[in-house]
Amino acid sequence: MGKRVGIIGVGYVGLVTGTCLAEVGHEVYGIDSNTAKIDMLRRGQVPIYEPGLAELIAKNMAEGRLAFGTETDECVRRSDIIFICVNTPPKPNGQADLRYVDLAARNVAQAMGGYRILVDKSTVPVHTGEKVRETVKRHNKKNLEFDIVSNPEFLREGSAVADAMHPDRIVVGVTSERAATAMRELYEPFGAPIIVTDIESAEIIKHACNSFLAMKISFINSIAAICEAAGAKIDEVVEGMSLDKRIGREFLHAGIGYGGSCFPKDVSAFIHIAEDFGYDFTILKAVQAVNAHQRTRFVKKIEQTLWVVGDKTIGVLGLAFKPNTDDMRNAPSIDIIQALVHDGAKVRAYDPVAVPNAQKILDEGVTFCKDPYEAAHGADALVIVTEWDEFRELDLERVRELLAQPIIIDGRNIFDPAQMKALGFVYESIGR
Ligand code: NAD
Ligand code: UGA
Repeated sequence: MGKRVGIIGVGYVGLVTGTCLAEVGHEVYGIDSNTAKIDMLRRGQVPIYEPGLAELIAKNMAEGRLAFGTETDECVRRSDIIFICVNTPPKPNGQADLRYVDLAARNVAQAMGGYRILVDKSTVPVHTGEKVRETVKRHNKKNLEFDIVSNPEFLREGSAVADAMHPDRIVVGVTSERAATAMRELYEPFGAPIIVTDIESAEIIKHACNSFLAMKISFINSIAAICEAAGAKIDEVVEGMSLDKRIGREFLHAGIGYGGSCFPKDVSAFIHIAEDFGYDFTILKAVQAVNAHQRTRFVKKIEQTLWVVGDKTIGVLGLAFKPNTDDMRNAPSIDIIQALVHDGAKVRAYDPVAVPNAQKILDEGVTFCKDPYEAAHGADALVIVTEWDEFRELDLERVRELLAQPIIIDGRNIFDPAQMKALGFVYESIGR
């Protein structure tokens, strides 16, 4: 039987989670303090770009299983299981800022009229569940019964709907059998393995996963640097590594390093968490340093290819931190473009969906183009920053004719160097 679910914070995670829970038959009510987002959703518009999401929201709203509002009271009244999906951004020192989690917990406690399960889905430091429990206890004046659950989310932007509908596993940290049973029933329709742990372990699983994946990326970027220096080819090295089942091939794509709203902030939060427990997480500090260096190395590669960047026009393909999203949070494109503009370059940038978000961050020295060919037109070089499929399918002969110089510097290794050479390009990429 469908459960009554509340979602607090309908951003990338809350909106996708809520919609997918509605899709499997639960009754979902999502709220957000950003009233503009709620107005859009109520008008049938979707505030973020995520493949397949708009259709699923429309379907579930039409079938009466998904609705949106702004009031916590209404959300708590309409739900038995309430998910906290608010943002947990980094503080200036890199620690997680938990003010929105705290506020959501207080609001729920004050609105409760009976037993509720409060689930933390936001990525939070270990022991946050305990703090949320104390907070709810303090603000729940009628001393009503409640349970706290940690249920970290593993979806990726750009494939969020597919990831949420077909998760590898579901992690549920609990302190009571009552909450464990409710969570098992809630997630049963997804058919994925459900791992039930204590709350602290669930919280650590999330930071451990993101940090491990970030570590793989920095590791392979280090190997790419050695390949470049030694005259080896990163693609062949990865091929040879990845057939070892213990290593695998996922997250070994060398490039300009990881960006986005999660890996950078979660690695830095985990370093702080470890520090609080007296452990110096040196591996993760190295992961961070390699990642930061990867962006500067790429800018240097552009400079080495062009000799002087000042007064040159550089076409940039891809602005979002990864393909199939409009998310510009901590996108490598920002640092790279700002460095080029700082050196006096004129940038002509194109992205299939992220331009409106990019325009809020980048303006000086950047012209936004309506397609990749316009970005290439008259440019001294074309730089690939995000590996959208659209770029893999470019008419490269047309690009070559449009460019002032046939130079492509590819931060994502989307083309074959031998083919590019045969097409008459000067082609630079990562680790080959
Ligand atoms: P987001 O910024 O897109 O969405 C958060 C939403 O919460 C915003 O719309 C904000 O207005 C709303 N909000 C904040 N405080 C509120 C309150 N008190 N009441 C109601 N609404 C409130 O963030 P996101 O990317 O969805 O991430 C949310 C959390 O999930 C973070 O902890 C993040 O680390 C984690 N996470 C994100 C992803 C991802 O791919 N984006 C994946 C897994 C986990
Ligand atoms: C990441 C994790 O993959 C999700 O499991 C997790 O839920 C999420 O963070 C989160 O906690 O928010 P996401 O950041 O959306 O998801 O996207 P990824 O596909 O992981 O890519 C992250 C960054 O790493 C991107 O900038 C991407 O270009 C880069 N990357 C990824 C590489 O440079 N190489 C790779 O091999 C893979």
